[in-house]
Amino acid sequence: MLTRRQFNGRLLGGLAASAVAPHFLIGQDPEEPAIACRAQLVNADRLRETLEKLSEFGRLEEGGTTRLGFSNEDLAARNWAMGLLRDEGLEVTIDAAANIRARRAGERDDLPTIAFGSHTDTVPQGGNFDGCVGSMGAIEVIRTLNEQNVRTQRPLEVILFSNEEGVHYGRGLFGSRALAGLVPADELELVDEHGVKLADWIRRYGGDPTLIETMEPPAVAFYCYLELHIEQGGVLWSRKIPLGIVEGIVGINEYKAVVEGFANHAGTTPMDQRRDALLTAAKIVQAVREIVTSVPGRQVGTVGIIRAYPGAPNVIPGQAEFTVELRDLSLEKIEGLGERIRERGSQLAAADGCSFSLEKVVTYEPALSDRRIRFEIQKAAEEMRAPALTMASGAGHDAQDMARLCPMGMIFVPSVDGISHSPQERSRWEEIACGAECLYRTILRLDALQSLA
Ligand code: HGY
Ligand code: MN
Ligand code: MN
Repeated sequence: MLTRRQFNGRLLGGLAASAVAPHFLIGQDPEEPAIACRAQLVNADRLRETLEKLSEFGRLEEGGTTRLGFSNEDLAARNWAMGLLRDEGLEVTIDAAANIRARRAGERDDLPTIAFGSHTDTVPQGGNFDGCVGSMGAIEVIRTLNEQNVRTQRPLEVILFSNEEGVHYGRGLFGSRALAGLVPADELELVDEHGVKLADWIRRYGGDPTLIETMEPPAVAFYCYLELHIEQGGVLWSRKIPLGIVEGIVGINEYKAVVEGFANHAGTTPMDQRRDALLTAAKIVQAVREIVTSVPGRQVGTVGIIRAYPGAPNVIPGQAEFTVELRDLSLEKIEGLGERIRERGSQLAAADGCSFSLEKVVTYEPALSDRRIRFEIQKAAEEMRAPALTMASGAGHDAQDMARLCPMGMIFVPSVDGISHSPQERSRWEEIACGAECLYRTILRLDALQSLA
């Protein structure tokens, strides 16, 4: 078991072992305003139990969960989830990119499927709701359909995507990018700190890396894709609205920044003769914030990882490496901000006798949801007499890649105090059930349509 400090010591790609704290209860309801929605068809207690069971995989003694994509903890959770899907009579397969695909036959099996799902992996010391709610919510939808003896016209498909968070190997939305034909061949050659190739993990998960390049399904395979998720921000929570209808998902650019200075003796090198790469990096970290906040809008920028080399108390850092992550609904805007960070970083480095490089590692494209799907989610919420707010998603989701293949829609439920990617991440059971029921009703409404046009 690793403490947060030990984990951070490992930085990118570290695989934390898990430990079980049997008395740790996830998502206890805090004392606060009554919710404006109750589930009628889905079983809130059953969904809670399923989520609590999932939280055991990768649970940490100090609270929270580390269940990285492509890890033994996530693999165990996936095997358990596949069992649940089989128990409901679904035909469960694993595709080339190690996504779990579970199909429920429709009256007309020749029609494109209504797909829905999310991811089972977490960030290091994450919570038990991000990805979990959509994954277990999808299983609850299937259980409710079976219980209600509902046979849809179209086939349904639950998809549990592989390595959505992408902390392991530094590439997120893995399974959905692969499905959309967006994984470059060299990504599969990435090696983690244990010397294990991404391709090897894909095999361990039951996928086939050699087929990823050719796996892009014909666009007609999916009628639409829906994802239930926690908001991960505080909009719904602060406005006391139980449901969110996602209008669009932000695009994300991730960069690797490197400052080159000169490593020298920390005791003998006078302060005015140093080329301290970490000091320059600190100034550039500050500049990232200044540049991101210098223009109006909701764009955000984060430096989440920083490392100094050679990394000793008595050596002036000769090199510093850090990540820069920029997000906005407009890719153009974050591209422009990236350019400004590159320019300013180079100026700051030159002034310190250092050099600076900023390399874009990966882009996750922004995506808009489908207008008709948003309308049907709204109608489903009205059936439940639940207020719903149309809003943007500041977090990335597999839905943004699925949007390249078919019309997409997302349903949000509130995050208590807007906290996510943290052991304190929580959502209320009743609101989670409400979200799952909204998903259930939306699926039936979409199934009843002849087309989405
Ligand atoms: O980082 C994200 O936005 C997401 O939670 N994967
Ligand atoms: Mn996440
Ligand atoms: Mn997520």
